[in-house]
Amino acid sequence: MAQNDLHDIARALVADGKGILAADESDGTIKKRFDTIGIESIEDNRRAYRDMLFTTPGAEEYISGVILFDETIRQSALDGTPFPKLLESKGIIPGIKVDQGARPLALADGETITEGLDGLRGRLEEYYALGARFAKWRATYSITDELPSQYCIWTNAHALARYAALCQEAGIVPIVEPEILQDGTHTIERSYHVACKVLEALYTELFDQRVDVEGTLLKPNMVLSGYDASNRAGVDEVAEWTLKCFYKHVPAAVPGIVFLSGGQSDEDSTAHLNAMNAKGPHPWEISFSYGRALQTPALNAWAGKPDQVEAGQRAFYHRAKLNSAARSGLYAPEMERETASV
Ligand code: 13P
Repeated sequence: MAQNDLHDIARALVADGKGILAADESDGTIKKRFDTIGIESIEDNRRAYRDMLFTTPGAEEYISGVILFDETIRQSALDGTPFPKLLESKGIIPGIKVDQGARPLALADGETITEGLDGLRGRLEEYYALGARFAKWRATYSITDELPSQYCIWTNAHALARYAALCQEAGIVPIVEPEILQDGTHTIERSYHVACKVLEALYTELFDQRVDVEGTLLKPNMVLSGYDASNRAGVDEVAEWTLKCFYKHVPAAVPGIVFLSGGQSDEDSTAHLNAMNAKGPHPWEISFSYGRALQTPALNAWAGKPDQVEAGQRAFYHRAKLNSAARSGLYAPEMERETASV
């Protein structure tokens, strides 16, 4: 694999007006999502749901890549086409979640380390053969007055870099996802401070482990006030603190920053992305890799009913379109009211 291929894939994932759909919910997470609409998390339902999203007419106008879960990359669409082939045929790049989840970090109360490095080289080879051209690894950190510890920050940075190096060796673009959870009452300044520390460690490890950052993407949280904080920062402040942090800590060689939504409302996720892009141009593309913020309205409109597939697709298309507009600072809240049409 020539290095430039990695650069090309990374750049294609953040092509103008496009972003990533994170549809890589693990079995536990998809069950939680299905519980909200009262359907059972069985393989057929999971397949039907992903089929509804991936066959949305025109989704490829706004979606550059889709992150799949292990089960999904091996499944076929309802018409029998393997999901990775179906996505490729629409010009959408298939990706794969390769971490095996966050587990308690030894001797560190309340903190986690992400597992999945053992055997990863072999799994990446298999995923490449199945069509994956990019991957995702998510580390999580909590904010309290004392946390995250330096121990948690550096062990997760080390693991993220080991994963990234293995991906590049396999010809797969690594998305590095250090997610600082925004639960709690912390101020936006505290969120900023923690994000700076986490990114400083991450890029130190990536460079130490010889990762070519031009063939990677960063998938971070936005810098927010804690979800339970009083006087939460507004849209403009969020954009300013988030950009300030990235200008200090993300190398300009990184082609794109693709945000996770992290439990923000759909509208907030889009408005924050828009505000950041309205302050551009920036050294990197600023885009999205949303799970909930792209899927929630679609999940609700579909509700597990075959005769509501089109309604689900309309909702997904509409959300993708609004986030695409936010890629260039052209989103306005009034657009929320436009009729969603496929
Ligand atoms: P959310 O946008 O729902 O946070 O999901 C993105 C993701 O991939 C989390 O790992």
